[in-house]
Amino acid sequence: MLKLAGKEDKKLKTTVFQDETRIFNPPKELVEKSIVMQWMKKKGFKTEKEMRAWCSSDEHYLEFWDEMAKTYVDWHKTYTKVMDDSEMPYFHWFTGGEINITYNAVDRHAKGAKKDKVAYIWIPEPTDQPVQKITYGDLYKEVNKFANGLKSLGLKKGDRVSIYMPMIPQLPIAMLACAKLGVIHSVVFSGFSSKGLMDRAADCGSRAIITVDGFYRRGKPVPLKPNADEAAGGAPSVEKIIVYKRAGVDVSMKEGRDVWWHDLVKGQSEECEPVWVDPEHRLYILYTSGTTGKPKGIEHATGGNAVGPAQTLHWVFDLKDDDVWWCTADIGWVTGHSYIVYAPLILGMTSLMYEGAADYPDFGRWWKNIQDHKVTVLYTAPTAVRMFMKQGAEWPDKYDLSSLRLLGSVGEPINPEAWMWYREHIGRGELQIMDTWWQTETGTFLNSPLPITPLKPGSCTFPLPGYDISILDEEGNEVPLGSGGNIVALKPYPSMLRAFWGDKERFMKEYWQFYWDVPGRRGVYLAGDKAQRDKDGYFFIQGRIDDVLSVAGHRIANAEVESALVAHPKIAEAAVVGKPDEVKGESIVAFVILRVGNEPSPELAKDAIAFVRKTLGPVAAPTEVHFVNDLPKTRSGKIMRRVVKARALGNPVGDISTLMNPEAVDGIPKIV
Ligand code: WT7
Repeated sequence: MLKLAGKEDKKLKTTVFQDETRIFNPPKELVEKSIVMQWMKKKGFKTEKEMRAWCSSDEHYLEFWDEMAKTYVDWHKTYTKVMDDSEMPYFHWFTGGEINITYNAVDRHAKGAKKDKVAYIWIPEPTDQPVQKITYGDLYKEVNKFANGLKSLGLKKGDRVSIYMPMIPQLPIAMLACAKLGVIHSVVFSGFSSKGLMDRAADCGSRAIITVDGFYRRGKPVPLKPNADEAAGGAPSVEKIIVYKRAGVDVSMKEGRDVWWHDLVKGQSEECEPVWVDPEHRLYILYTSGTTGKPKGIEHATGGNAVGPAQTLHWVFDLKDDDVWWCTADIGWVTGHSYIVYAPLILGMTSLMYEGAADYPDFGRWWKNIQDHKVTVLYTAPTAVRMFMKQGAEWPDKYDLSSLRLLGSVGEPINPEAWMWYREHIGRGELQIMDTWWQTETGTFLNSPLPITPLKPGSCTFPLPGYDISILDEEGNEVPLGSGGNIVALKPYPSMLRAFWGDKERFMKEYWQFYWDVPGRRGVYLAGDKAQRDKDGYFFIQGRIDDVLSVAGHRIANAEVESALVAHPKIAEAAVVGKPDEVKGESIVAFVILRVGNEPSPELAKDAIAFVRKTLGPVAAPTEVHFVNDLPKTRSGKIMRRVVKARALGNPVGDISTLMNPEAVDGIPKIV
């Protein structure tokens, strides 16, 4: 059973977040010209608050989604019902309709005014290779040829295909080709091991794996195909491996099973009829690792994912026709699925896509990309912001970032220190930061500022229009302003997950069981995060429900202590774990990475402890601070506290093959 934040919460002298008094108002021009403001004017809304509340209300939310679905998507056959909750918690959206998402993302632009508009500016990692500009017209041809190739292999609607590719244009092309045929794609991050791929391909019964010979990492070609071979060895459903030649590394091709991409598309027609599907037809399965246990195959539906991502991208990041959008995520994550592939293409936008590492050839690469291609909106993660913070502002300072007009953040709570640095050094001290809170399960942002929202550093502000997000205590009561509990979705929304592949019981248990029997709360989605609202109603996410320490009867979120630590001028990153303590239950132990130019010392450790004591109160102060060079992270940049803790306590660390930097584990000192 999940352990939840209880009443002790309110006693605790916390948090840094609640004490946030800085407000950053959006510039008038941004507000006036924003897409959301145009819509508000059209509808006659006077205030943001009124608008947000109306769109998410019991009376109007289906009307809202109906309008959005018709605004952003061309339906082959119009649905007859917006939402059907008769099989709760299996909600169905856009019942009776027919759709093809690739038609919406590519065909309608390629056949219309946007044929020659650039869809992707693709920057290869090696600096001596040319940048590619891929128009909607190009995309149309490439997707169709590849879709016809897939068809020729016998792949058809409902089949699953695993895609295991680096950040090259063929990755979205492969996804779009699958979706054109109603084939369900399951993208596996290319940094995962062969076992990671094997488990996922076997779980969903993939008939094929699409991969590359190899890819570039920090200037060197790295083979990838051998991993697919190993994975196929343990995933009996895999009949075919399709290999795109990216890095020119030697690979062995198995007769009858393996086929080169370039051979598959040779002679294929540049036309391919879309397969029209029911809006509930699964668009993709994406595995989310969870902190423990077997990865969960999250099932996402086609209709909802054509509507939700496009609408939220349009409203939150305010994308206009001449914007250049850069989401720095890897497409192997939901962020990339929704906000590099489906949403920007459905909106007909130009996106930048970068193949490689942020520090290749040096820490100026991202800023050069922005300068060279006049990126206007940048969406990245707090872990990246902190990495750049650690390297110092001289890197972004060398480049002209004046094209930027809006910034975004996703992945974990952004500590106010990093937020301020991001605004100051990337945003010229002027740009608004859209801190979007969401999950693999949700498909879209749930809480986020809009360009019209006054911001507080570290807050994802309010539920977006159409999303009824709240904070409940364990009994299911809404908590008053100024306190915290479980963040939940009170209503369904189009892009929400539909199921776990092959595991009904776990789906029920994980998200719905908790409030199922509470009167009036059936169908409430438990997100698994702890959150608070301040007196003005601003939401502050505090981390996962299970990432909570218990110190002398006080519940303290690990993330709160980490946030306090990284506000220290000499600390770049921190992981906080609980060490069993006979008296207090747990004592707080911190592992910290220093900013460049600082040396570990016992004085600095003491100073860090004093710093947290002052910020959060004595109960939240670490008893030990250890200096490390690196911390183990997931591929999406989250510090794996579970692994840090196991290693520090001398327990087995479990399977760490899917970490970004498994070698970091060895550098964690034992504390018992
Ligand atoms: C978990 C979901 C959403 C795409 C990337 C991660 C945390 C995500 C924020 C944010 C605070 C955040 C939550 C959430 N999270 N964005 N803006 N503020 N926390 O997807 O791997 O499914 O992780 O990431 O804990 O539950 P994911």
